[in-house]
Amino acid sequence: MFAEAAYFTRKPDWVAGLVRVGSLDFWRGVNPHLNITHHPFTRPIQSYPVGEPDLEQALEQICVEGYLHIPPAISTEICQALALGVTRIIEVGLHPIYLSLYDEYWQVLRNLSAVMEPVLGKDYLALGDFWCWCISPETAPSGWGPHRDYQFKANTTRGDGRPMLVTAWLPFTDTDPLNGCMYLIPQNRDPFIPNQLEKTGFRNPQDIRALPARAGSIMAWNQYIQHWGGHSSKWAKCPRIATGVYLQSADVDPYVNKPVRFDRELSFEHRLGFTASNILNYHMYHNYPQPVLRMCFEQIQALPNFVPLVPPALRTLMADYLDELEDVRECPPADPVRE
Ligand SMILES: [Fe+2]
Repeated sequence: MFAEAAYFTRKPDWVAGLVRVGSLDFWRGVNPHLNITHHPFTRPIQSYPVGEPDLEQALEQICVEGYLHIPPAISTEICQALALGVTRIIEVGLHPIYLSLYDEYWQVLRNLSAVMEPVLGKDYLALGDFWCWCISPETAPSGWGPHRDYQFKANTTRGDGRPMLVTAWLPFTDTDPLNGCMYLIPQNRDPFIPNQLEKTGFRNPQDIRALPARAGSIMAWNQYIQHWGGHSSKWAKCPRIATGVYLQSADVDPYVNKPVRFDRELSFEHRLGFTASNILNYHMYHNYPQPVLRMCFEQIQALPNFVPLVPPALRTLMADYLDELEDVRECPPADPVRE
């Protein structure tokens, strides 16, 4: 079984345990040091401080090489809180992606404004497209293989090279080659940019750039950059715990209908819908077991206009399941699926 799917199946009673995923009280109990409210953005923005030279380099580098890398800016305290959150989620037999149920996860994204506003513009927004990783020999032994995010065929860069959409990649623990840090090919060394984006590879191994990064660093890249996570080693000092999430400019329509605006509420059910849509999106790579898919089919319904968010290959399965669910609902007195 793929490591990403195996997070769900580690406990003997894992199928029955999936019912916990929909319970807000359960998640509060898993990580009492983190918060879940419907309004994660009521506190004033506490933008992480970034030095002027680092910011200047970042703005030039993302135009020239397609990515930026800011030294640790996110507070140590919040990195440790989120890394602990992931550890506890795994301990209860669930996937690190559920870190996104907590307010602090979203507050971090909003507080990247010192870096992201100069790149994306004022009032940038997040998209409910994200993932969380815990790379270690015991959990998932390596990061994802070489790929370009290149999910949206629309233009995602401006004339001056600034992206309108980035993948923000944020490590909450220190990452280095021993625990599977990120690698990429700078876009000006990539032989397939701009005309052969369906291909991956490189001209010269020396073009590969390793991106070891301390906890709290801020990385981001455009849609075209080839990148991947390395394989972990038994000599790794700690797991590589990190998240990747789309952030985009406010002056273009959301690239996917899952916008998160930092001046609006974001309910628990909505966040759960996001996790469901992301798990379904990556099913073709990770092969999640049927009970997990069924859970996601239920939870994704919290998102408005959710059907287009389900990969076409899964829509028949979802339609069959939702019909079945409807039958169950019509059968009083109890709803054994939803209880
Ligand atoms: Fe990626």
